[in-house]
Amino acid sequence: MLNLIQGTFVHTPALNKLEILEDYLLGIWDPFGTIKHFAPSNSPESVALLERYTPRIIPRGNFILPTFCDLHLHAPQFLYQGNGLHLPLMQWLNEYAFKAEERMDNDAKLAQKVYTRLAQRLKENGTGAVMLFGTIKEETNLILAKCMNDAGLRAFVGKLSMDQLSSPDYIEESAKASIEAAKSFAFKMQCKYPALPDTVEPVITPRFVPTCSDALLDGLGRYATACGLRIQSHLAESHDQVSAVLTERGVDDIEVFARSSLLTPKTVQAHCTFLDGPSLGRLQATGTAVAHCPLSNAYFSAEPFKLREALDMSVKVGLGTDVAGGYSLSIMDAMRQAVAVSRMRQGANVMNKSSETSLAIDWVEALYLATKGGADALGIESGVFEIGRAFDAQQIALWDQSGGIGPLDFFDEGARISPDIVEKWWCLGDARNRLGMWIQGKERI
Ligand code: GUN
Ligand code: FE
Repeated sequence: MLNLIQGTFVHTPALNKLEILEDYLLGIWDPFGTIKHFAPSNSPESVALLERYTPRIIPRGNFILPTFCDLHLHAPQFLYQGNGLHLPLMQWLNEYAFKAEERMDNDAKLAQKVYTRLAQRLKENGTGAVMLFGTIKEETNLILAKCMNDAGLRAFVGKLSMDQLSSPDYIEESAKASIEAAKSFAFKMQCKYPALPDTVEPVITPRFVPTCSDALLDGLGRYATACGLRIQSHLAESHDQVSAVLTERGVDDIEVFARSSLLTPKTVQAHCTFLDGPSLGRLQATGTAVAHCPLSNAYFSAEPFKLREALDMSVKVGLGTDVAGGYSLSIMDAMRQAVAVSRMRQGANVMNKSSETSLAIDWVEALYLATKGGADALGIESGVFEIGRAFDAQQIALWDQSGGIGPLDFFDEGARISPDIVEKWWCLGDARNRLGMWIQGKERI
């Protein structure tokens, strides 16, 4: 198998570094989609390859970009996307989230339908890797994993663990039963999707501190550590949730997770809005990543995540949609919201004269978070075009002979892909500009 792709490549190899590589040749020739060749088309190695093989040519007006990573999405809540966001978090969970999950666990056909559509929508939106919260029931999560695998997505699938405080009917029997169920799911997943090139993996998923007893958290932490499994949860998300944990446990969320060994280099914690500098330092020291979900934070959190501070402290950060606490499946929306929120923080900072350093991020930094930042947070070998990394990419089309594509207008057809043009797409582009997608080198749209 040999695949050569020739054209313009755009990526962000570092937080504030945008590279536009014009007329490059990229080559893949193993089943894992590893990039084996990446160099200007006129380099001697490229010329030698082009003498022997025919490349796929990416036309002018198009560029290749890494796929997006969505670090936090509730698959069953896709059913209720865009409903009920007038409520505070703890009430919304009771009235919408738990019900969506219970419905899915009671109806395998519905789960199949919702998860198949979810996978399709993710690809339409350029998401190539996604970390998912599922439901309590094993079979439903196996359906979710299969739908993602059939679509060719990289998917990290979490069976929910919760043994307290949910609605009485939607809960696991005991900490012990919950731990056994988490182990059984992880085992079945590893048997079904044993190794590369499969891209689907289980995730240990204590929902959040309020729905998990200490015994459950301890058991999950021990199991995840023993087996080197991924972990995900919600940390310091909303005011009502943070104060409930303090009242009931006498310590804050991060301390509860730390005591149960749930902050690890394989952990992704959603939100983290209420963490102060020292707590962000704990995330950095343990290698824990943050899924920054700016839209959902605007509804549920009352406070924005300290994104600039986290980045300056080298905390691993990527973006999450938090569907359906966030109503958009699009990581492009999440990028724009991350920038908008950071600019509001900066504005408030200037008004209060509280610090000289800017709290804003710009669009290039947001693009990094959506691609390489997300991939690094997930520990996957994609997010940037480099020899040895996997080719997870999307083809973005800005114009053709008839002019701008989708929502984009006023291009000079002879123009080259410049930072201004990529910025315009970043602000205005949508699914109409996405012509193709590859995951692990295989074409998926
Ligand atoms: N915290 C615990 N569960 C959830 C959930 O389903 N959505 C959000 N946004 N926060 C949570
Ligand atoms: Fe969430």
